[in-house]
Amino acid sequence: MAHVKEMQLLFHVALVLSVILTSALKTLDSEQELQDSGFGQPPPRHGLKLLVWYVQDCVDNNMVALCDPIQGEYGFHEFRNLKPWHLLPVIKDKKQYTYYTIGNLNYPHAKDLPYEVRKYYNRSDPDSNMDRVLVRYNNNNKHIDQIYASAHYKAKETYIIGPNLLASLRQPAAHINIEM
Ligand SMILES: *[C@@H]1O[C@H](CO)[C@@H](O)[C@H](O)[C@H]1NC(C)=O
Repeated sequence: MAHVKEMQLLFHVALVLSVILTSALKTLDSEQELQDSGFGQPPPRHGLKLLVWYVQDCVDNNMVALCDPIQGEYGFHEFRNLKPWHLLPVIKDKKQYTYYTIGNLNYPHAKDLPYEVRKYYNRSDPDSNMDRVLVRYNNNNKHIDQIYASAHYKAKETYIIGPNLLASLRQPAAHINIEM
């Protein structure tokens, strides 16, 4: 009988571990879910503004990249998805796909970001520079095939931007409540 108890215990431990170790990122797929996540707001956080600007100005309707991450435009640079806690799904074909990150306001060329995105930046206040937009870039066809939003690369505050949210953020009047 004791044996059964042990097995049950082991089973529970294994279950808990597997839940902890599976870093399934949450997907946000509506403006409401984005709001409720708390990502990128309120000021001085800049992530919401950054995300809306990125979606509206840096990818076309076919997801072709209009802002060149390779050239480091707007402070883009490669995101190294490091072990052991890979924040993003591990890329198998590293020739074809690369992760890039944008949003560090202290990075070269970040000054080219719109004023709306940068205006609360305060070197003495880390909250004003904690948000990032990450993208998976296809080197072969220059498409962006996934967009992520992240509060300073914390797994719990990193989100996949779903297709419906993407579509609604594209609308010029995305009615995200962004304090200006
Ligand atoms: C910048 O941040 C520091 C630390 O939070 C704060 O004391 C200071 O008032 C802020 N400066 C501005 C201009 O908001």
